[in-house]
Formats: sequence, C-alpha cells, structure tokens
Amino acid sequence: MQASSKLKIEGLSKTYKGSSGGENVTALKDVGIEIGAGEFVSIVGPSGCGKSTLFNIIAGLIRPSRGSVLLDGREPDELLGSVGYMPQRDCLMPWRTVLDNTTLGLELSGVRKKEAHKRALAEFERFGLAGFEKHWPAKLSGGMKQRAALLRTFLAGRDVMLLDEPFGALDALTRANMQEWLLDVWQEDRKTILFVTHDVEEAIYLSDRVYVMSGRPGRVSLCVDVKLERPRKSEITMSPEFLILKQKLLRPLEEAAAGGGLFIDDRPTLEEQI
Ligand SMILES: Nc1ncnc2c1ncn2[C@@H]1O[C@H](COP(=O)(O)OP(=O)(O)OP(=O)(O)O)[C@@H](O)[C@H]1O
Ligand SMILES: [Mg+2]
Repeated sequence: MQASSKLKIEGLSKTYKGSSGGENVTALKDVGIEIGAGEFVSIVGPSGCGKSTLFNIIAGLIRPSRGSVLLDGREPDELLGSVGYMPQRDCLMPWRTVLDNTTLGLELSGVRKKEAHKRALAEFERFGLAGFEKHWPAKLSGGMKQRAALLRTFLAGRDVMLLDEPFGALDALTRANMQEWLLDVWQEDRKTILFVTHDVEEAIYLSDRVYVMSGRPGRVSLCVDVKLERPRKSEITMSPEFLILKQKLLRPLEEAAAGGGLFIDDRPTLEEQI
C-alpha cells in the first residue's frame, strides 16, 4: 500500500436500531480498510455482512455508530457528494433516456444540461453505448445498463469510486467482458476504486488488494495483496499464483458460510502442497 492513503476507514461500526421494539442489528463491527490513490481494492463477504452498509456510510448516506472515514487524510465536512457511488441496483430512471440518465449526477451538481450532455457524449464510445443515446433504459441489455450506470458514476468526476456488485446480475460471458473493459477504463483514468463482489475470482482478477469480511456483524477477517502483473488478461485466472490466492480467500468465506466468526486456518495451503 502507498504511504499516504486516499481513503481510510477506521474502527467503523454500525448498529441499526430495531423499529417498534424489534431487535437491533449490528451490521458492521470495527472495520478498518485503507486504499492508496489509484488503487483498485475489492471487498468480498457473505450476503448480509454489511458491504452495502459500509458503502452507504462512505458515501455519506448513513452515519456510522462509531469510527471514521478519512479522505486524503481528513474527515470531510460533508461526505455526501465527496465520492462517486454506484449502488447495488443500477438505479437507471426508466423515464429518462440513456443520455439523460448518464448526466443525472452532473445536473444535480449544478452543471447545465447542454454542458452535461457534451461531457457525457464524449464518453459514449468508450463506454460501449454509442448509438443508444436516445434509447430508454428498458431497451438496453444488462451489460449496457451497468455501463450506463458506471458512466454516470464516472462523470460525477470524483477521484474515489464505490462500485457495489456492478456485475452481479450478469451472465458469465458478459461479466468477463465487463471486467476486462473496466480494467481498461481504470488503467486509463487511474481513479481509486473500491469494489464489492461475491465472486472471489472477480476480486482477484481486478484488484491490487482484497479484503474478506466475516458474516454478520461484518468484520475484516483477511486482507490479501494481489501482486499479479498488470495489464491482466483472462488467462491469468488459470495460473498457479491465481489459484493459490483463490484458495486463500475462499477458506474464510467457507468458514463464514458455515457460521464461523473470525477465521483461523491451520490446514496446509495449495502453495505448501505443491
Ligand atoms: N436500513 C436498515 N435497517 C435495518 N437493518 C438494515 C438496514 N439496512 C441493512 N440492514 C441489515 O444490515 C445487515 C447488512 O446489510 P447490507 O445490505 O449492508 O449487507 P450486504 O453485505 O450488502 O448484503 P448483500 O451481499 O446481500 O448485498 C443485514 O442484516 C440487513 O438486514
Ligand atoms: Mg449489498
């Protein structure tokens, strides 16, 4: 990791208060995550471990019960609007054309429509959306919807982008294409990306570092650096280095799925067995 972190999350906990006498839910407990400028970092964890909660806190949509979010070494006065955020659902508005969907963030931040259109149109080709400017979202394929939502997030112009399972609903082939495309875009723009996925292979393939979260309450149970060389091509997923990482990351997830808490593993690794 780089010496100065772009985004640093310290001791973050979140308990949702139970409504009308219901039980409280502790979604996150003492979570710490650090990302250097321009890094691509992923979080994997079982459903319900608090990944979207974490993103909602970083994006300033909800407040943590404890802990802090530091951007460029300080707590921003207002987190809301400080980072680009693509929520778990693509959230395209069905009554706006694809172009008008992609400019939504710009317009909300006060950019005039004509200028917003100009900036968005300049990116349509790179985002594989050329020719679909005037289409309605319902007419787009799943991959195109996600690219439109990603373009909206990119256009917001923030250095840090939070992407919550952007490819979760796509078929395997479209997903693989989208991963390669995202790496190309990231390599060109070098934004700082924090990415949530259920898919360990996707996390390794894309990332400089992967955090594994335990089942609820979500805590960081493992953090692994991915030192595979870049640019990466899909063949890398068959390499021994990749498989060793995959095994290392899968173990705590299996443990979490079996209902375990924090992970202690003394079984021999693939690396030791080879
Ligand atoms: N607004 C809320 N009020 C009460 N409980 C909530 C609220 N939002 C989330 N939770 C609970 O907090 C826990 C974490 O939810 P969250 O959506 O952050 O998990 P997740 O890791 O993103 O799951 P998934 O992988 O399925 O998207 C869950 O038990 C969920 O029911
Ligand atoms: Mg989620």
